[in-house]
Amino acid sequence: MSRIIATGGGPLAGSLRVPGDKSISHRAVMFGALAEGVTEVTGFLPGADTLATLAAFEALGVRVERHGLSQQDAESARLVIHGVGLSGLSRPSAALDMGNSGTGMRLMAGILAAQPFASVLVGDESLSKRPMGRVLDPLVQMGAQISSAAGKMPPLEFSPVAGLTGIDYQLPMASAQVKSCLLLAGIFARGETRVTEPAPTRDHTERMLRGFGYQVEQQGSTVALRGGGRLTACNVHVPADISSATFPLIAALITPGSELLLREVGINPTRDGVLRIVEKMGARVEMVNRREEGGEPVADLKVTATELQGVEIGGDLVALAIDEIPALAVAAACASGTTVIREAEELRVKESDRIATTVAGLRNLGVEVEELPDGMVIEGGTFSGGTVDAAGDHRLAMAFSVASLRAEGPVEVLDCDNVVTSFPGFVPLLSSVGVRLQLEQS
Ligand code: S3P
Repeated sequence: MSRIIATGGGPLAGSLRVPGDKSISHRAVMFGALAEGVTEVTGFLPGADTLATLAAFEALGVRVERHGLSQQDAESARLVIHGVGLSGLSRPSAALDMGNSGTGMRLMAGILAAQPFASVLVGDESLSKRPMGRVLDPLVQMGAQISSAAGKMPPLEFSPVAGLTGIDYQLPMASAQVKSCLLLAGIFARGETRVTEPAPTRDHTERMLRGFGYQVEQQGSTVALRGGGRLTACNVHVPADISSATFPLIAALITPGSELLLREVGINPTRDGVLRIVEKMGARVEMVNRREEGGEPVADLKVTATELQGVEIGGDLVALAIDEIPALAVAAACASGTTVIREAEELRVKESDRIATTVAGLRNLGVEVEELPDGMVIEGGTFSGGTVDAAGDHRLAMAFSVASLRAEGPVEVLDCDNVVTSFPGFVPLLSSVGVRLQLEQS
């Protein structure tokens, strides 16, 4: 098991491009595989989660040429996917292992639930404890036959079906994974599938469906499509992941004297909650060179160190920054005043219970923090070094590593293996701009 020893550093200077967007990379593989024709994906994230999705499609009979995926320079990672069309997948000879990835498992469930062959989805220890009822219940309403372990948890076993029927579904929670699962199933279903969300969530699936030539209607908070269409191959360029960019962004904001340029970051308005929140905290982040790449808005972010203020985070902002809350909690610990995070109970069912793991880690560093059922209250100020447990959660490992920039001593972060799920090369890349990190195997 690996650990990161973080000994501060800074000021951060220079520029970097973090690896490709995880959400968009998963979807590029899925849509490329199901399309007719050849799809080229550039800027693909060669992380463990997205590689699990890629391996799953290879096991389903899709041929993929992989270029530059083992390099640390993720900018050059490229896939050529030979799509098989919507009825071209074949029965896998073994269970498909989605590793640590909730996105992989939930989106794959929408595809596999509609197939005329049996299949099984499994995951690692963390994924095996994550709730799947949120996708199983509506898929069963569509006519799917799926069995699962106690508590509607993985493994998920799909029986062959002759077809699904579209439904009109009100999401009980703001989840792009559930929305996307149902839209994917809806492509294979008879009639219309409608999904209404309680708050806006990332819309990469809707954007990419349109990019692959599939008609999608958006009326207010409802997204709808009709089954029986076809996906036509197109090239996808994956921007740098705003969720990964959050770690160097917060690192630069909290380290006096820092000036950092983050290149080609996806700034889709359904993902930019972190930028809105740090702006409320008083941050100076300038967006330059704004452009659109592959149907997604992109910009370079110029980040200048700033004295941050405590802030209230709740409502729609939570879903727009759902993966960034652990890093924002570190920013809050460095801010003046109190930060209150509420309506974020979804954090309890992520790769770890991120409310509990964030609170425990910050307390170990001497931060005054109160746990709430749906969030936390953080008192900003000075804090110490110490040992914290990332609990196998990639985002916690990276957030606590960054906290060392303002800690009064070294921070030892335990259980960091899963950093590779979303951010291969995190330690060398952050080191290249002045953060002192060391990765050790124990
Ligand atoms: C994702 C959606 C989010 C997010 C996850 C990626 C996606 O999950 O936490 O990392 O790609 O759709 P929920 O939609 O379940 O909140």
